[in-house]
Order: sequence, then C-alpha cells, then structure tokens
Amino acid sequence: MPLEIVIGTQWGDEGKGRVVDLLSARADIVARYNGGDNAGHTVTVGEKVFKLHLIPSGIIHPGTIGVIGNGVVVYPPTLFSEIEMLEQNGVEASPQRLRLSHAAHLITPAHRALDRAQEAARGAGQIGTTGRGIGPAYTDKAARRGIRLEEMLNPEAFHKRMLAHVEEANQWLVGVYQAEALDPQAVADEYAEYAEKMRPYITDTSLLLWQALQNGQTVLAEGAQGTLLDLDHGTYPFVTSSTPTAAGALVGLGLGPGTAARVIGVTKAFQTRVGAGPFPTEVSGEMATRLRGTGANPWDEYGTTTGRPRRVGWLDGVLLRYAVRVNNVTDLVVTKLDVLSGLPSILLCTGYRVNGNVLADLPLGPADLSPFEPVYEELPGWTADVRGARSWNDLPREAQHYLSRISELCGVPVCQVSVGPEREQVVDL
Ligand code: IMP
Repeated sequence: MPLEIVIGTQWGDEGKGRVVDLLSARADIVARYNGGDNAGHTVTVGEKVFKLHLIPSGIIHPGTIGVIGNGVVVYPPTLFSEIEMLEQNGVEASPQRLRLSHAAHLITPAHRALDRAQEAARGAGQIGTTGRGIGPAYTDKAARRGIRLEEMLNPEAFHKRMLAHVEEANQWLVGVYQAEALDPQAVADEYAEYAEKMRPYITDTSLLLWQALQNGQTVLAEGAQGTLLDLDHGTYPFVTSSTPTAAGALVGLGLGPGTAARVIGVTKAFQTRVGAGPFPTEVSGEMATRLRGTGANPWDEYGTTTGRPRRVGWLDGVLLRYAVRVNNVTDLVVTKLDVLSGLPSILLCTGYRVNGNVLADLPLGPADLSPFEPVYEELPGWTADVRGARSWNDLPREAQHYLSRISELCGVPVCQVSVGPEREQVVDL
C-alpha cells in the first residue's frame, strides 16, 4: 500500500517539512492536502534553508512530483514567488513537476482583507490568524460560492466571476467591517494574468494520484498545521479552517480510505503554539526563552509565516494520545530532541487533574481545556550533546527513557528522532 500520510500531532510547526523531506527521497509524488500559505515548512539542505508555505516541501527532491490537492486553498502570488525561489535555487518547479488540482479553491485579495477585518472585529476573542485569507476562502468554499482553479481555464467567465466576487466582498468589507473597498477591476485583471500562468499546472490530481497508486508508485501526503488546529478535532474555535488530520488527506486528495498504509505522526519533544487558544503545559520566563531559542537560528521557535515568537511548553502526553487516536497514527516521529539537552530534568504531562481525579484521556475533546491541571512526571535530563547520535545506542540513557515513556503513553512506536537541523541529524529506530 503506497500512500503514506504525514501529520502534525500538535498545533503545527512540529517539523513535518523535515520528515517529509527525508521520506520524499523514496516517494514518487508528494502531495499537500489542506490549508494554504498559512503553513511554513523549513527544510535545511547543506547551506541552503528552504522556507515553503504552499508548494509541498518534498519537491526539493529531484525525483518527485509535487501535487497541490483539492483540499488546499491557493494564493497565486505566493505560488509564483515560491516557484521563482525554487528555480533560483536549482529546483525545477515547471508544470511537469508541479500539478495543481482543478478543484482547489483560490484565495483572493478580498479573502485576505476579510481575514484581517474579521480578526480586528473579534477584539479580545482574536484567534491570531496568519492573515492569509484562509478562513474566508474556506467559508466561501463551504457556502458554495468559492472560486475553483478550473474556473481559471475559461478567461471570460473567470474575469466576470472575479469582478462579482470582489464586489460582494466589498459589501462586507465596507458595510459590516468599515474597512476599505478593493478595486474589482484591478483584482480581476491581476487574476486574469495569474490564470494564464496557472493554466498549464491545472489538472485532475485525484486521477493522477490514483493512477500513480495503481502503478505501484509511492505517494506521500504532506499535512500542514496540526491535529489541534483541525476544524473539527482541534481546540475549537482556536483552530484553522481546514482538516489537517489524516482523514483530511483522503478528502483533500480525492482518495479512498483503503489507500493509506501508514500514518506518520510528528511531535516535537516539547510543545509549541502560535496564535491564541488553550495550552495547558505552557511555560513562561527563563524556561520559555530556553525552549524557544533567541531567534538567531532559522530553527528557533519563531513562526515561519508570521515571524511571531511561538508559545512554548512541556510535551502534553494527554493531547498526544488524543492525536494518535484521531489520526490512527501508526508511527511516531519525535523532533528537536537536541533542544532538551542540558536541562537538569524534563517534565512530561501524563494526565489531567480535575475534581481530584486524574484523567489520561479527554472526556469531551480539546475545545475546553480550562478545567484541567496538567499532572507531570519529572524525568532526569541529560548533559551530552545528542546531535551526533545516529542510532538508539548513541543516545544517553535518560533520552532513551524519555522516548520510551512517550511511546508508552500513546501506544505507538517511535520510528525516528531528529537530533539537529541538518538532514542527516536523525536517529532511525
Ligand atoms: P489561520 O489558519 O491563518 O486562519 O489561523 C488560525 C490559527 O492557526 C492561528 O492560531 C494560527 O496561528 C494557526 N496556524 C495556522 N497555520 C499554522 C501553521 O502552519 N503553524 C502553526 N500555527 C498555524
């Protein structure tokens, strides 16, 4: 069974790009299935650091084809700036190597303006969106008035659709949010140019993927964001508007359940979050600075898309167990173990205390975590630098113990651990 799905088990930023990069070496197709350019996947190859928001990061491998599935929302300016950046760095991103689903939806400047206006109107209840127009684009999709890429193939009708779309958005922007109106003609003209450039990339990617699977090829589904940002299964309403969980890969690529062989769940060795919303194991002060890093390195905990410092905390085993369950994770990848080196001890949340009881599972999902107090297990830290480790036996005993506890807590084996930012700094188990 050649479909493998890589998902984030936390609030995104788990280091999925890195894992996808490693798995892509033996994949024929790497496909994005959800979200848009709100994501940020950082891959370090030698001296080069690639930051991709929309195009699947697996395309960096010369043998792969990149697919943007129907579950994705596409902002053309980002698409073309990434194509240009890749080509400048010697990575081909022509229509032979990058395919866009005809059924994916467009993000327009009107969606971006609405995202900002709606976020401002939320006042104290702000979600802290990335401002990339994600929510409004998926709102239009669900309301059956969104614009699909296939509409770009008919220039005249597309121009009219764009005019009508911006005119309608202006009614909301001006009438409801007292924001500035956009120029419908200017936007429609700009998008007419994008339509011409996008035409050769647009195809039925569901058919392409199905044929690839029939021919015994390997498809890697690259998730964006994470389980706890899932529209249904995350910390609602502090979530994104798509389905980052494993089932989203099937809907977002147009494939059936029987095609999936493995679900690889990626978790950091600790926990981070950008934007607002509950975070029971969050830490502040010196420990937060220690886990976050200073921002001097590209892998420090600052948002790839917005540059915001990430909130940081201890690994939450209750939420990880939950993520393993809702995704049916088969293999766990733990990233950034090296960040914990040098800490005298490490806290691992193994349960939630409520009314004198300790729960190992969430009674009503993660939307309201306010009644719970994390219960921690304190594990001994290690001083050795783990960045040179390449096998289980190279890891300090304390690090082995920490990984074993994580695996025990969620009932799945850890198949890989990353111990540094470079491609080869991994331990395969
Ligand atoms: P939106 O996806 O821009 O609507 O933002 C909704 C929430 O998801 C906000 O809290 C964002 O910070 C968060 N978010 C969206 N994309 C990512 C991501 O790729 N990594 C981490 N957080 C994200």
